[in-house]
Amino acid sequence: METYRIAVIEGDGIGREVIPEGLAAIRAAAEVTGSFAIETTDFPWSCEYYATHGRMMDDDALDRMRDFDAILLGAIGFPGVPDHVSLWNMLLPLRQAYDLAVNLRPMRLLPGIPGPLKDRTPDEVDFVCVRENTEGEYCGTGGRIHPDSPDEVVTQTAVFTRKGTERIVRYAFELARTRDRTLISATKSNALNHSMVFWDEVVAAVAPDYPDISVRGMHIDALAALMVLHPERVDTIVASNLFGDILTDLGAALMGSLGLAPSANIDPTRTYPSLFEPIHGSAPDIAGRGIANPMATAWAASMLLEHLGEAEAAGLLMRAVEHVALEGPRTPDLGGTASTRELGQAMVDAILAAR
Ligand code: NAD
Ligand code: IPM
Ligand code: MN
Repeated sequence: METYRIAVIEGDGIGREVIPEGLAAIRAAAEVTGSFAIETTDFPWSCEYYATHGRMMDDDALDRMRDFDAILLGAIGFPGVPDHVSLWNMLLPLRQAYDLAVNLRPMRLLPGIPGPLKDRTPDEVDFVCVRENTEGEYCGTGGRIHPDSPDEVVTQTAVFTRKGTERIVRYAFELARTRDRTLISATKSNALNHSMVFWDEVVAAVAPDYPDISVRGMHIDALAALMVLHPERVDTIVASNLFGDILTDLGAALMGSLGLAPSANIDPTRTYPSLFEPIHGSAPDIAGRGIANPMATAWAASMLLEHLGEAEAAGLLMRAVEHVALEGPRTPDLGGTASTRELGQAMVDAILAAR
């Protein structure tokens, strides 16, 4: 029997509350399938760690996590440490260093969840965003001169490489092939006359390799509106780092809550461990109250299992998420009164019921 080694970073805020529920769901699925075991190692990297050690993670953190089969992350960031400091000393360098090129973010209506698109069918609202995850607007280059003076100058430069752009676009075309064979490329080449014109050119250059896929570019602003007004016209999306970030919080909101949407940061070459997390953050406004929704984390855990080749267990987790969506209990973000623990336990029970 396979034993998978999973690096666990609960991180900050509600990350600490939802991750135990995701792990409990994985363990329940391991028990039911009997096909694998997991061995977890906790890493304390967080803003709290920063407060006591002066750094978000140890210098050798990337070496220490390298040989794990996967990483499960809650969220990073908390008041007390500026967000750009916490994120640029943890998650963002990790995505770059491990070359987690693809950030895969499925969004779809879960039957039973009341959301802004409740009159739509799950069939109509079923998106996946293939978000570029290592460069673009998030490459971190830029600087400030003459700080705090009237002559201050600030730059933040987006960097798009041909290699990076082509690999994300190809990944999206391949994924579209497994879905409804349409692809929307999120662009903004009307205003971003260098980066997004280049992006469009790469999409056009790759497209002939996928004659079975119907692809079109849409400006990001219009695409955001389309997701709300005509979600049935949207299926697979390929987007740059920042565009994908924004579109997926929108998608999560359309699902009914930020507490529902998962995310897989994938190294397609499998050289490094891939990282799985809910798309939401540490939610300082509700942290510590035990009311965060753990469904996004359980869904992310399902994607982790899928990535490891444990399709049956992945299916058990996904069906557990769908079960609680329909039957409850519900946390306050979905209008209920249940706690994180109660919802987590309901998912575990749903998984164990498959025994
Ligand atoms: P957020 O996603 O943490 O919260 C936005 C809103 O959604 C809040 O009202 C919150 O209560 C609600 N929410 C989010 N997740 C929820 C859940 N599981 N259940 C119920 N409600 C939920 O976004 P923010 O407020 O912009 O960011 C807070 C902190 O998290 C910042 O430091 C930010 O940088 C960080 N962040 C980290 C990650 C990550 O580590 N992957 C992702 C996003 C934001
Ligand atoms: C996400 C988050 C991160 C991002 C932040 C915390 C840097 O919002 O994973 O969506 O923008 O990538
Ligand atoms: Mn985000």
